[in-house]
Amino acid sequence: MGDDRGDAAVRDGEVRRVERERERAPPGRADSIARVRPHVEPLLQPADSSRSWPSEREVADQVVIDADPAEARRALESVPLWFHTFALNRRHNLYTPGRARDHGYRLALIPQSFAGMRVLDVGAFDGFYSFLAEARGARRVVAIDNEQYVHWVKSRWNVNLAGGQGFRAIKRLLDSEVEYLRMDAFELERLDEQFDLIFCFGILHRVENPLGLLRLLGGHLAADGCILVETYGVPADLGAAEGALSVPRPGEPYPGDGFVYWQFSSGALRRLAAFADLPHFQLCCTPIVDGHPRILGRIGA
Ligand SMILES: C[S@@+](CC[C@H](N)C(=O)[O-])C[C@H]1O[C@@H](n2cnc3c(N)ncnc32)[C@H](O)[C@@H]1O
Repeated sequence: MGDDRGDAAVRDGEVRRVERERERAPPGRADSIARVRPHVEPLLQPADSSRSWPSEREVADQVVIDADPAEARRALESVPLWFHTFALNRRHNLYTPGRARDHGYRLALIPQSFAGMRVLDVGAFDGFYSFLAEARGARRVVAIDNEQYVHWVKSRWNVNLAGGQGFRAIKRLLDSEVEYLRMDAFELERLDEQFDLIFCFGILHRVENPLGLLRLLGGHLAADGCILVETYGVPADLGAAEGALSVPRPGEPYPGDGFVYWQFSSGALRRLAAFADLPHFQLCCTPIVDGHPRILGRIGA
């Protein structure tokens, strides 16, 4: 509880600061204040697990592709397993059958406008969030993935997927400029760039050194930038006040997937972020999605 109250106070303080800056800003500047400081925009939804979210197809509709139906069908069939749901052609009801079931509740945290932003998507898989950022006006988007999923896609679903297949198919259809790098997140030092917004979705529980990853991401954050983080949680955010971090049995969260090492409470995320010199953590929600506890929040310096 103490952590939640602290969160609300920080959030209220930040929202008031943005409002003051907006009032003082010359005409036309007010919007850009929130735009370049996405982590100080008010959270759009409270930490509430009881609500329902948009369906995967409603999420997919946020990235309009509307490809020629024949091309859309070819793309659909060229990839043996899709992780993300994409609306290839809405009129013909052509959607990729994405395996991921946990995207609707993330939407509320994602800025409506990415105008002018540089965005990094860490562990992008098929790249839905990279393409969403581009569609919403990001000026540069870099997606990285070490393609670890090739292994768990084989062991969970017995499907032989080559790395980057889905990403490349969508990039082609959209004629997108998102840059894809097959790269481990722990090699990020190779990238000499700063980002205004970093997606850290679905990956923190999959790396052996989550604090190390947060430190690396923090090192690539522009002044006033933010990291949107979504990861595996603990039911009802148990142990948050103590900073609890759980370790599941190998393969317990997803049978056949031996890459889920951690379950984070909000307190654990807040404290790890603080160790990484990222003192602002805002909890968005801790829902149970498709039977799995998840946690969503925003981290800033
Ligand atoms: C569960 S998927 C999440 C995909 C997407 N970010 C989302 O949330 O919808 C996790 C992704 O992180 C990637 N990944 C895991 N460890 C990684 C690492 N050390 N460096 C880069 N990518 C990694 C996996 O290959 C996979 O694509």
